[in-house]
Amino acid sequence: MKKILDIITEKMQTAFAEAGYDASFGRVTVSNRPDLCEYQCNGALSAAKQYKCAPIQIANAVVAKLDESDYSLAEAVMPGFINLKLSDAFLQSYLEEMRTAPDFGVEKTGAGKTIVVDYGGPNVAKPLHIGHLRSAIIGESLKRLYKFMGYHAIGDIHLGDWGLQMGLIITELQERQPDLCYFDPGYTGAYPEEPPFTISQLEEIYPAAAAKKKEDEVFAEKAHNATFELQQGRPGYRAIWQHIMKLSVADMTKIYDDLDVHFESWLGESDADPYIPAMIADIKAKGLAVLSEGALVMPVAEESDKKEVPPCILVKSDGSSIYATTDLATMVQRMQDFNPDKMLYLTDKRQSLHFEQVFRAARKAGIVREETELEHVGFGTMNGKDGKPFKTREGGVMRLEQLIAMITDFVRAKVVENQIVSEDAVEQTTHKIAMAALKYGDLSNQPTKDYIFDLDRFAAFEGNTGPYILYTIVRIKSILSRYGEWKHLSIQPAANACAKELMLAITKFGGVMEAALNASAPNLICAYIYELAGAANKFYHETPILKEENKELQAGYIALMGLTMELLEKCIEILGFSAPEKM
Ligand code: ARG
Repeated sequence: MKKILDIITEKMQTAFAEAGYDASFGRVTVSNRPDLCEYQCNGALSAAKQYKCAPIQIANAVVAKLDESDYSLAEAVMPGFINLKLSDAFLQSYLEEMRTAPDFGVEKTGAGKTIVVDYGGPNVAKPLHIGHLRSAIIGESLKRLYKFMGYHAIGDIHLGDWGLQMGLIITELQERQPDLCYFDPGYTGAYPEEPPFTISQLEEIYPAAAAKKKEDEVFAEKAHNATFELQQGRPGYRAIWQHIMKLSVADMTKIYDDLDVHFESWLGESDADPYIPAMIADIKAKGLAVLSEGALVMPVAEESDKKEVPPCILVKSDGSSIYATTDLATMVQRMQDFNPDKMLYLTDKRQSLHFEQVFRAARKAGIVREETELEHVGFGTMNGKDGKPFKTREGGVMRLEQLIAMITDFVRAKVVENQIVSEDAVEQTTHKIAMAALKYGDLSNQPTKDYIFDLDRFAAFEGNTGPYILYTIVRIKSILSRYGEWKHLSIQPAANACAKELMLAITKFGGVMEAALNASAPNLICAYIYELAGAANKFYHETPILKEENKELQAGYIALMGLTMELLEKCIEILGFSAPEKM
């Protein structure tokens, strides 16, 4: 289905042409004076300069060519604006088409295209913390949006499972338990099924080792060697690595499941490793790499750069590869596996330069196709009320698990106090409201901006919040269920001003989805559903829906509520949360 703005723009362009003016002047926009009209066209003002006549003369001639049945108002006003209000019939038929078309008639701009969305990016052996939250929430939502728009979208967690952190754990473990078979080079038996540590021990071992590395050079050296040997495939080290992976992934899965975040692909940096040698050889053969202080680097600076863009390091002087190397090799792998049209990365915005370097290197080296789009969405920080990165009460980094528990407890108390649902539904309802609070609180901000985590505000049932959206959905659902069967009912002409306002809001759906995708901005979807929910609540307040005696009129109200509810549910599904039955 075409977007409504496109339809009326085309009609306006035809009118300009029929009146003897260039069609390109017929661009229509949403009115910036909603008190006067719904849409407007200012083309006569620019046309007047070209045709050297009064704008109002052009506007009048154009209005005379418009099809009256499309508008309840189409007038030329001084000095030459064209003000428009859609006719009830036009709006009704547009909404009825939306109601009956698959996915509300949204044009599937991504049909036939593939995208890899790289988000999450947790590091194994380290607990998920607040720093991983935004990547998970925004990434999942963008992936769902791409899917909705017709793309084959693959979410890849891209585990940090390969660097020095692994060598550090191995080394620390060896110091603590030197007699384990994993460290015996002569050992030839099978390694135990069960790991020699629990996940909590692991989470203690890693920071302990990281701290030691800073003070103890010998230890640091050992850890570097262990990393190298692991990457070379030393069996005992590989076995420990397997244990770490298994425990970490199981632990992460729990939390991602809780957040309703799901990856199609669970690959990591280690999976890119086999692609590195051939890739480096190719880059060298193409003459793109140079030696700099013993390291192999690829210059990626461009003349137009306003800031210095340092060369992309491929191989460090000690022969090891780094973050950029794995990211490039991962691209090689993804091109082979999926040949995607786009790769989208979500990380903290402090990694922007890294991605700029990697993207340039990938293009120069021909790792991706010329048309393959590469985009990095760098997001801001979630801050506490003091404006500084959110911390625990003790000032430490907050684990995601803790954060989720904190929100859940807060919401549960409300649910119980207000006796919203029966006892057996408390947990499920609480979880849904908590996720809506958390995710909407995040997603309603522009991704690049920092925001303040404010539980009282995020979890409020009123205002621009996730729970308010859920509340609106639940309320509409209850009206619909009290009415009875409604899915077959058709949209009717707007019965009052509130109905028209709601209908106009509904028409924006396709355009909002497109804009949100183009700008990687789920916040546009949040703003849209806030508007939609507001219009729905107003309509509901001003219109006695269930008391209406005229059955036909009532069926029209119900159809409109039904469509609104379906749109709201689709939007929150894309944002990554869902509504409870009661609230
Ligand atoms: N593991 C990385 C980190 O903790 C994030 C990975 C993001 N994805 C990527 N392809 N570099 O910073």
